[in-house]
Amino acid sequence: MAKPPRIYRGTPRNLALLARRLKAGGLVAVPTETVYGLAGDATSIAACQRIFAAKGRPSDDPLIVHIASLADLARVAVPNEAALRLARAFWPGPLTIVLPKTSAVPDLVTAGLPSVAVRMPSHPLFRRLIRLAGVPLAAPSANPFGYVSPTTAAHVRRSLGSRVGHILDGGPSRIGLESTIVDLRDPARAALLRPGAVTRFEIERVLGLPVARRRTSRAGARLAPGQMARHYSPRTPVVLHERLTAAMAARGGPRDAWLFISKPRGHRPRDPSQERLFWLDAQGNLRRAARRLFSVLRELDEGGFRKIHVERPRGPGIAEALGDRLDRAASR
Ligand code: TXA
Ligand code: MG
Repeated sequence: MAKPPRIYRGTPRNLALLARRLKAGGLVAVPTETVYGLAGDATSIAACQRIFAAKGRPSDDPLIVHIASLADLARVAVPNEAALRLARAFWPGPLTIVLPKTSAVPDLVTAGLPSVAVRMPSHPLFRRLIRLAGVPLAAPSANPFGYVSPTTAAHVRRSLGSRVGHILDGGPSRIGLESTIVDLRDPARAALLRPGAVTRFEIERVLGLPVARRRTSRAGARLAPGQMARHYSPRTPVVLHERLTAAMAARGGPRDAWLFISKPRGHRPRDPSQERLFWLDAQGNLRRAARRLFSVLRELDEGGFRKIHVERPRGPGIAEALGDRLDRAASR
């Protein structure tokens, strides 16, 4: 039987050991401020093959390359002035920039595309690990392909199991949603491929240009293959609502869960129907709600419910990212 993964604390000794593993072409699940990633040497074809195999990820879905300093950007990508402006404003942090790639990046990483997605993460343990490994690290979210992204080391162990040997524990992810992805191959036509914690408005302010949302499917243009149905989906069907009320939950069936953004008014803790009522943040703070979304979806998915009803936030900023992840969770 395959061995269960080992979870490591971020001691200097453990980091050195995990960096050696990465240099040798092995995989390590790593904490980031967005979600946990499954990292391997981005310049090694063998390591990247292991990433695709461990996730069960189709080979036409490209990986994000993670670097620890701005000096490393030119190693993997051909930057332009707009990209450098965004990098200076938001790195290290939850922003991924798509640029023309260099020959240091194997075609396997980019699924054959001439462009590469690059990010400099802010989680201190992950940054130290990239530095120690001395190579850029390719890392998709550390979940089986199509399932909800992990935001704790325990999530990674539970859903990837023996498919990952080593997990670095850096605590719960501070942001909880995957990075914003912006396409800057042509700096005059910046496009938002995936909304995240760095908002469209913040990007537009730095670029001084409007940034259009571009949705493409794997079946169509192969530009943002992550934009597919059943991405981020729990096994339990998710039903989205413009607005939820405690009264709707009271009328619902005994195996329906109701997930609110904030603590609902009229919530009566002693009424048994209200035991199926959940919320992401008592005050409805959307950043805190985003941080908890994936772990709450995982818990509800394991709660034996028939359906999970979720209130979908509308609006700009972090609401755009939350709404996007909920749309994907609900699509099957
Ligand atoms: O926050 C994050 O970005 C996390 C952490 C681990 O850094 N990573 C992450 O990776 O979410 P993943 O593989 O789950 O999502 C990467 C997305 C995919 O949807 C992929 O299609 C897109 O990035 N992508 C990668 N390379 C691309 C490229 N050259 N052009 C367009 N999209 C690209
Ligand atoms: Mg993913």
